[in-house]
Amino acid sequence: MSADTASPPLLRLSGVNKSFGDHQVLHDIDLEVRTGEVVVLLGASGSGKSTLIRCVNRLETADSGDIALDGLPMPLEGKELARMRAQVGMVFQSFNLFGHKTVLENVTLAPTRVKAIPRRLAEERARELVARVGLADKLDAYPAQLSGGQQQRVAIARALAMDPRLLLFDEPTSALDPEMITEVLDVMTQLAAEGMTMLVVTHEMGFARRAADRVVFLDAGRIVETAAPEEFFASPRSERARDFLSKILTH
Ligand SMILES: Nc1ncnc2c1ncn2[C@@H]1O[C@H](COP(=O)(O)OP(=O)(O)OP(=O)(O)O)[C@@H](O)[C@H]1O
Ligand SMILES: [Mg+2]
Repeated sequence: MSADTASPPLLRLSGVNKSFGDHQVLHDIDLEVRTGEVVVLLGASGSGKSTLIRCVNRLETADSGDIALDGLPMPLEGKELARMRAQVGMVFQSFNLFGHKTVLENVTLAPTRVKAIPRRLAEERARELVARVGLADKLDAYPAQLSGGQQQRVAIARALAMDPRLLLFDEPTSALDPEMITEVLDVMTQLAAEGMTMLVVTHEMGFARRAADRVVFLDAGRIVETAAPEEFFASPRSERARDFLSKILTH
């Protein structure tokens, strides 16, 4: 959680624009995330949160502007892009585990295939990570045999297995029943405390208050507010943020 302010930002977006057809979804986005920093992205449905996060690892391609990881522009395609992507883990709302593979296989797949890490080493590391998310007894289970919260924790272990420099989360708990949300947020809070650099879209305001170094509020594709969480929640500056908070906090 203690951001390193001496070095250049790990992630920098400058002047990023993105349209779908004639609908401009992102307007001139400038955003920096420093190593060790946890940034929570908030905004109403349709404000462009997923699009922004997907532009970071080029699941979507920005129309203009620059996206750089550690000062290096995100490559357009090919091996260079694959190499940069390997440094950026992503956890989605829909866990996206391979259903025909066990937990252990899900967590070892990318390191062995993409990074050519020897199976024995990859499995050793996978056991460690799966234990860290509290699922040491589920290594041989298939995703369908796990609860949603357990599947999402496996998805986090899988992302960590690539030793990412940055983790992106897009509403990782939105598909979960309330009793499973906490177990996933606890893992994320732990990661934040250990210094993982994270850009997180979530509607879990408790997590934002507890774990975020900075809250970035998006409205209709524009960043309208950036603040420390205590400041944002206590006294949002923009009318849109006040409106958003009044809706989200009252149910
Ligand atoms: N592939 C696409 N094609 C066309 N329009 C899209 C596409 N993806 C997103 N959009 C539009 O872009 C806008 C922003 O969508 P986005 O998914 O980024 O919002 P969001 O803030 O993540 O919303 P939510 O909170 O509902 O997930 C929306 O109006 C959406 O309909
Ligand atoms: Mg979204």
